[in-house]
Amino acid sequence: MQFRKKDLLGIKQLEPEEIEVILETAETFKEISTRPIKKVPTLRGRTVVHLFYEPSTRTRTSFEIAAKRLSADTFNISASTSSIVKGETLVDTAKNLEAMNPDVIVLRHSAAGAPHMLARRVEASVINAGDGMHEHPTQALLDLLTIRDNKGTISGQTVAIIGDIAHSRVARSNIWALTKMGARVLVAGPNTMIPQDLDKLGVEVFNRLEDVIPEADVIMMLRIQLERQGKMLLPTLREYSKVFGLNEEKLSTAKPEVLIMHPGPINRGVEISPSVADGPYSVILDQVTNGVAIRMALLYLLIGGEKDE
Ligand code: CP
Repeated sequence: MQFRKKDLLGIKQLEPEEIEVILETAETFKEISTRPIKKVPTLRGRTVVHLFYEPSTRTRTSFEIAAKRLSADTFNISASTSSIVKGETLVDTAKNLEAMNPDVIVLRHSAAGAPHMLARRVEASVINAGDGMHEHPTQALLDLLTIRDNKGTISGQTVAIIGDIAHSRVARSNIWALTKMGARVLVAGPNTMIPQDLDKLGVEVFNRLEDVIPEADVIMMLRIQLERQGKMLLPTLREYSKVFGLNEEKLSTAKPEVLIMHPGPINRGVEISPSVADGPYSVILDQVTNGVAIRMALLYLLIGGEKDE
């Protein structure tokens, strides 16, 4: 199957076969990052702009590394050091960038739907690097790749997503991705951080960590998104950590081959203890490594081959 899309805006719009193509393509790109000279000419002459209205370490750096390893030219624009601080709108910023003829705009924005709106207004391919509380599709794809690397398959795995589900774009994209690929998804968190009707997305909802840990092949811990919570949704971080934080004691009831994942950034000692984050079941840094391969694959599939949209 060929990948024929102009943009990568969310997991919701992808067919399982398209997700499979992205994962397979990422597998083929992994090897480039292990070479002494980590560069191939695949996207020579192409231009990728990273337009980030929110902070990022992993996503932005791995997109830049991915583009550079494919020999594309890259440009980074941060809200704080651009004319955005003078009041320029997203559309005006993008139109001005487009006047310089980039091939891809990678956008992170606090507003849900911002990449979708941009994609309708510009000729360049748009990649969603996280839009508000909506989606973070490239994170979900690198998470799928990490699960497949370690478990051999995604279908049939039981994945527990734990924490602040309501404010997490990572959770939303992973729920779409995992259910599309045939995984069983359990979510657990305080009632105040679980959206109503979440079970309609095909997941099972719990309020106790103890109910999901023994069932899970993969445990995905989430950061509490304090910056997105309008009001305090829990008594104290200490209380949250006691009830929903993953430590070695709680992990002792897990399956022997369980995988521990976290999209980062980690709040050590809040949602996950340092000994679990750095322990033998953790694949958190493998997720980061896979982020480069997934983003290389997406850049290649969007602008390296033929497209008809
Ligand atoms: N996982 C993730 O999106 O991390 P950053 O915010 O550092 O990009």
